[in-house]
Amino acid sequence: MESEVPSPGGVLESKHTRGGGIVATGLARSFGPVKAVENIDFRAAPGEVTALIGPNGSGKTTLLLMLASLLRPDRGSISVAGVDPATNPRAVRAVLGWMPDTLGVWESLTGREILTTVAALYGMDKKRGAVRAAELLELVSLGDLADTPARVFSRGQAQRLSLARALINDPAVLLLDEPASGLDPGARVQLRLLLRQLADGGKTVVISSHVLAELDEMADAAVFISKGHTVRSQTLAEAGAQTRGYTIATLDVPALRRVLDENQVQATYQHDLDSPRGNAKTRLAGEAEAAALLNTLVAAGVPVTAFAPSSGLLEETYLSLEEGSP
Ligand SMILES: Nc1ncnc2c1ncn2[C@@H]1O[C@H](COP(=O)(O)OP(=O)(O)OP(=O)(O)O)[C@@H](O)[C@H]1O
Ligand SMILES: [Mg+2]
Repeated sequence: MESEVPSPGGVLESKHTRGGGIVATGLARSFGPVKAVENIDFRAAPGEVTALIGPNGSGKTTLLLMLASLLRPDRGSISVAGVDPATNPRAVRAVLGWMPDTLGVWESLTGREILTTVAALYGMDKKRGAVRAAELLELVSLGDLADTPARVFSRGQAQRLSLARALINDPAVLLLDEPASGLDPGARVQLRLLLRQLADGGKTVVISSHVLAELDEMADAAVFISKGHTVRSQTLAEAGAQTRGYTIATLDVPALRRVLDENQVQATYQHDLDSPRGNAKTRLAGEAEAAALLNTLVAAGVPVTAFAPSSGLLEETYLSLEEGSP
């Protein structure tokens, strides 16, 4: 499938390039015969969390490595905070925080030692490095384990240490490859709040993930990729305005059906064998139409027990892209 990405106008362009955004166009990268990235356009604006979404093997990690200056594109251009990582990797690394999907922590060191070592690599003196390490260990709730060797960390604890490591230089641009994998629900909420806070502070935050429901609450914009191509870029507001599947549960399916029919709303119905309870599944053109229909049902006396989108915002787009793919 040929990718058709709407070209953003001048206003959006300046939003992405201003103060440390990312703009990448026409990126390609192969590994021998494998075309990991074929044609990717990607933008992320400062002050926003941008989700990078795509199935396994679609090229997410390859893209992030190119943005992080760790892999050279075969084709295409990249600007990270106004700098090209291919020609000026040092300048990009100075403003960048990178959290890889594999940990690669230096196992015999403690969390604190790892962070102070990385701080030294960024040229911080001992005292400043120690203060920064302590701050970050608190930030990711690893204060209690600060002096424990990292090899005994659980996967989730190691993920949090990896995030702290990515933040050591207070980067303007933060690239996170599957940061939530291995985190328990509490730690996921913490991560979400932390990333929101970092974006609100003006940072450009890019997060790749497959856990779409989680991204709904965290991301401001999303870029969908498939087989090395960008297939869609949208804001969460655009996602909310699109046609979505809704499930309407009721104590009285015949009554629900009557009112939906009267209003020319097409639906598929399911109900229990021994009672009129059940639900209808339908598609509605955005939140305003959903609100109006709910109002109509309630006014008509239909006993509605639940009325909700059948899937999350980003999941809806993801599924529609899958349906549309050959
Ligand atoms: N160093 C490499 N050598 C050879 N092939 C590679 C290399 N890195 C990636 N690939 C291939 O490129 C494609 C894209 O891989 P990539 O890791 O970017 O996908 P991904 O979207 O991050 O997947 P996942 O969701 O599983 O992390 C895959 O087919 C992968 O096998
Ligand atoms: Mg990956």
